Amino acid sequence: MIRPVYIYGSSVLRKVAQNISPDYPNIKELITDMFETMYHSDGVGLAAPQIGLSIRLFVIDATPFEEDDEDVKDFKKVFINAKIIERSGERKLFNEGCLSIPNIREDVERDDVIRMQYLDENFEPHEEEYSGIRARIIQHEYDHLEGMLFTDKVSPIRRQLLRNKLAGITKGRFSIDYKFRLA
Ligand code: NI
Repeated sequence: MIRPVYIYGSSVLRKVAQNISPDYPNIKELITDMFETMYHSDGVGLAAPQIGLSIRLFVIDATPFEEDDEDVKDFKKVFINAKIIERSGERKLFNEGCLSIPNIREDVERDDVIRMQYLDENFEPHEEEYSGIRARIIQHEYDHLEGMLFTDKVSPIRRQLLRNKLAGITKGRFSIDYKFRLA
């Protein structure tokens, strides 16, 4: 089932999300819904707060980046209770967008390498290192769990230039072709 995407200005996007346990209700169905919602809106990642749930769950399918980076071939994954335990490598700029912030794209600086602990969809634990586009997408989704958005991370000058646009979004001034909610 496609769920509405919560848009910039919605309070759930600013909350720190909570860990979940394996008895979280209908978790399989929720994960299926998240992939479906993400594909429907042409996203490469979706975090649970973006569908109104303040829990530490995000899904990624980076297949659309396959042409740019062989690393992301078949990079389709579920991350539960993820924790970034180490950040390293150069800081790099990359042009990002977000389903919750319609019609805005900005260059965002992030770490190139991260090490992370997480549970998969079967609540099996993993510890892995990611770099490049994979680390980029993970950090963007991970920020959603911390109540952070990519527009918080752009340079002060760019942020100033974005102020009116962002204020407009909170008043419903945007155009998208997927279901959304502003709450
Ligand atoms: Ni996002």
